[in-house]
Amino acid sequence: MVGTQWGDEGKGRVVDIVAKECAHVVRYQGGHNAGHTLVVDGEVFALQLIPSGILYDHVVPIIGNGVVIDPRVLLTEIDTLAAKGVNCERLMLSPQAHLVMPYHQILDELAEGRRGDNKIGTTKRGIGPAYADKASRTGIRVEDLLDPEHLRSRLRGSLAEKNVILRDVYGHEGVDPDRLADELIDEIAPRVAPYIGDTVGHLHEALHAGERVLFEGAQATFLDLDHGTYPFVTSSNPVAGYALVGSGIGPGAIDQVIGIAKAYLTRVGAGPFVTELHDEIGDHLVEVGREYGTNTGRRRRTGWFDAVMARQAVRLNACTEIALTKLDVLDQLETIKVCVAYEVDGRRYEYLPHLRRLHDKAIPVYAELPGWKTDLSEATERHDLPREAVEYVSFLERQMGVPIRFVCVGPGREQYLRFAA
Ligand code: GDP
Ligand code: IMO
Ligand code: MG
Repeated sequence: MVGTQWGDEGKGRVVDIVAKECAHVVRYQGGHNAGHTLVVDGEVFALQLIPSGILYDHVVPIIGNGVVIDPRVLLTEIDTLAAKGVNCERLMLSPQAHLVMPYHQILDELAEGRRGDNKIGTTKRGIGPAYADKASRTGIRVEDLLDPEHLRSRLRGSLAEKNVILRDVYGHEGVDPDRLADELIDEIAPRVAPYIGDTVGHLHEALHAGERVLFEGAQATFLDLDHGTYPFVTSSNPVAGYALVGSGIGPGAIDQVIGIAKAYLTRVGAGPFVTELHDEIGDHLVEVGREYGTNTGRRRRTGWFDAVMARQAVRLNACTEIALTKLDVLDQLETIKVCVAYEVDGRRYEYLPHLRRLHDKAIPVYAELPGWKTDLSEATERHDLPREAVEYVSFLERQMGVPIRFVCVGPGREQYLRFAA
């Protein structure tokens, strides 16, 4: 399951629908830059690291090797869930996942400050610096928590270089490796250790036994480090292909890829946005759709559905179907626009132009469809939808070329309907 836009499509709530019939739910990339919201019986769960399947007792939640884990955030999340009566004992962490350290967060924040007008608008969670360390082979991994002396020496090595950067480039006092090691060894490691397991072995046994495994992408296709709107992207690969790398399974294991798309478009942070609205309709979408970041509280930018991006996302992820969310947010609109193509220097594009400088110049070509002016929040079947709503969803389906399996009409667990057979 993968976001087809710029994140916050409603992945968490769709995972919750599909996980009902799965035995394992795996996060394969990203970290606590994610915020996945589930609303169950009016209670709100905002998950950052723990897979959205956690609310079902029959699901084994797995954090794969491709994720970067801030262990403090993980433990807080476990405690918060426990306080709400959710048992996290089944949670399994890959020993190969990298840890987000306090100095990653400091560096993320300082680097953003230094970029001035060229800010990416990161979540300042340390995600970029943690993945950079992984690639530089100076990262600290989950399994290092099991070996205190090794952990201390890795931290000393990594911080010897980082502290020079912190002090000389940023004028920061630096981070004491031994104090950090003491805290990790005394307070963090004993609590994290019980969750560490052989995630690769576990997944292969599950697949061999014919059990259903759901891979929960965080972020989204156009925040992908390779395929997104670089440099306004995250530092991991949310696209479906990375589910394999980030969890340790082979390509043959995947037989279904569900792309999640909002019925309109949002983006939080900087970067190109061809269909962005700077008018009262944009404000309306923010207010009705409550488009404020799940964990940073930032106001999201809003715009019309972009079928060019959606088509590209279907290609990049090999989506077999789509789940469309937040259709109800469009309830009050008189007419609704959909960007069906881009025009760049007089040429028409049905897919994203292959060069970013062309993308930056793209002018949206819109189709305009009638609104339905009806409250959809109680719809539970396709025939509950007014004709105009069916036409809007069918139009998006034709634009993307794959069936729209689910349509969500409210944040609650039961507020969705099956659209395509
Ligand atoms: P994620 O990061 O993709 O999991 O999405 P977020 O949880 O960050 O943002 C989606 C927001 O929309 C959350 O507040 C959800 O409760 C809410 N939401 C999800 N689906 C729907 C829907 O169909 N209608 C409405 N009105 N809200 C929804
Ligand atoms: P979920 O999983 C929306 C955005 C940030 C910024 C860029 C880089 O909830 O959909 P980072 O902190 O990752 O280095 O920031 O990516 N971003 C998200 N936007 N939803 C997310 O996650 C995001 N995770 C990162 O706003 O533009
Ligand atoms: Mg989110």
